[in-house]
Amino acid sequence: MALLPPLLCVFSSCKVLGLCFLTLYLNVAQANAAEHAGFNNHHNIHTRKLAAQANSTSCNLFYGTWIRDDTYPMYQSNCSVIDSAFNCQTNGRPDSDYLKYRWQPAGCEVPRFNGLDFLSKMRGKTIMFVGDSLGRNQWQSLVCMISAAVPQSPTQASKSDPLYTFKFLEYGVSVNFHRAPYLVDIDMQQGKRILRLDRISTNSIPWKGVDVLSFNTGHWWSHKGNASQGWENMESEGSLYDDMDRLVAFEKGLRTWAKWVDTNTVGTNTKVFFQGLSPLHFVPAEWKTTPASRNCIGETTPISGSTYAGPYPDQMKVIQDVIKGTSVYLLDITTLSQLRKDAHPSIYDKNVSQPPANTTRSSPDCSHWCLPGLPDTWNQLFYTALFN
Ligand SMILES: *[C@@H]1O[C@H](CO)[C@@H](O)[C@H](O)[C@H]1NC(C)=O
Ligand SMILES: *[C@@H]1O[C@H](CO)[C@@H](O)[C@H](O)[C@H]1NC(C)=O
Ligand SMILES: *[C@@H]1O[C@H](CO)[C@@H](O)[C@H](O)[C@H]1NC(C)=O
Ligand SMILES: *[C@@H]1O[C@H](CO)[C@@H](O)[C@H](O)[C@H]1NC(C)=O
Ligand SMILES: *[C@@H]1O[C@H](CO)[C@@H](O)[C@H](O)[C@H]1NC(C)=O
Repeated sequence: MALLPPLLCVFSSCKVLGLCFLTLYLNVAQANAAEHAGFNNHHNIHTRKLAAQANSTSCNLFYGTWIRDDTYPMYQSNCSVIDSAFNCQTNGRPDSDYLKYRWQPAGCEVPRFNGLDFLSKMRGKTIMFVGDSLGRNQWQSLVCMISAAVPQSPTQASKSDPLYTFKFLEYGVSVNFHRAPYLVDIDMQQGKRILRLDRISTNSIPWKGVDVLSFNTGHWWSHKGNASQGWENMESEGSLYDDMDRLVAFEKGLRTWAKWVDTNTVGTNTKVFFQGLSPLHFVPAEWKTTPASRNCIGETTPISGSTYAGPYPDQMKVIQDVIKGTSVYLLDITTLSQLRKDAHPSIYDKNVSQPPANTTRSSPDCSHWCLPGLPDTWNQLFYTALFN
């Protein structure tokens, strides 16, 4: 696939094996008060347990601040699964402070990620991230975090787009990624790709029997133009559309997904997470009074405090509304990630072998995240939600 023109490429990185991916959203499953019984608790048990642990009645894992912590990162850029487009250090990013922050919720402590504990608790089970390249970002991070804990343990990786698997053989634990940027099906009909707002059928084949599913979708719904959107028509309730309001289409697709979750996972031991919308940093006016650049280039520190001055994404309001009343756990990483203007690849999505790098490049990556980096925190919270 050719690189898209810069404006169309804003949300996607189209350079990895010719694949185009996007957003992340995790639905974290319920908490697990009874580990041996596994995976059948309710969200309220989860919430209560965390609150107790935090010695607070108002523990919100996702509200807090970033604290400098030199014990991070948890792994190095030599982890074998990192896409070159996410591997900022190897691509020549000169600063490294962005690797040394820990998320501190205002009302509770987040346990440090323990890869061996993760493997023991997940023994024999499969975790699958489903969605766009932000799900891929989180998937690679989790594989690296676990691998760092068991560097000598045999593993087996396979790639068969759209499915990517990584197995820790001694533990029988698989950590997989299924590329499905809209979650709903896309079918070919008379040579055209039809985005089926009402249907999840083909897509869900790899999701069956998975113990922990973490979904995300969002950014692709706003891509416009045949080349970047991945479909020619949308279908809803038996009618074909050339286009429609994208937020409306997003909600239709997400409700179809919620129905799939309800039909296929309620009453089973499957835990379901949704990864909150991963934010972009293309608009410096959102965090600076006098923007010096046009995007995230040159940003090396997080925003201090707990709030972001820029807008909260409309898609998040849809996500919260759809998830309300389901058993899905929202890994609500939007705001904490909005504070991390420093954590994108920017121009270090490619090897800048001749420094100084071109700081006026017109299409830096201000949507994905460096690895190691921010998605490691998403996984630390995922781990916390999964087992506490
Ligand atoms: C909460 O923590 C404070 C200070 O650490 C302690 O004095 C108090 O007893 C704790 N409360 C509960 C309910 O655990
Ligand atoms: C990566 O580098 C670190 C530090 O140099 C080393 O300890 C570790 O074994 C390496 N890991 C891999 C997978 O090569
Ligand atoms: C997009 O696809 C539609 C349907 O195939 C076609 O009518 C339209 O001309 C295409 N637009 C562009 C910009 O290629
Ligand atoms: C990037 O370029 C430098 C300098 O030529 C080289 O040492 C390094 O191995 C390259 N990195 C990758 C990931 O190719
Ligand atoms: C830097 O990127 C800009 C925009 O893509 C381009 O016009 C310019 O020629 C590049 N400069 C160098 C030194 O490559």
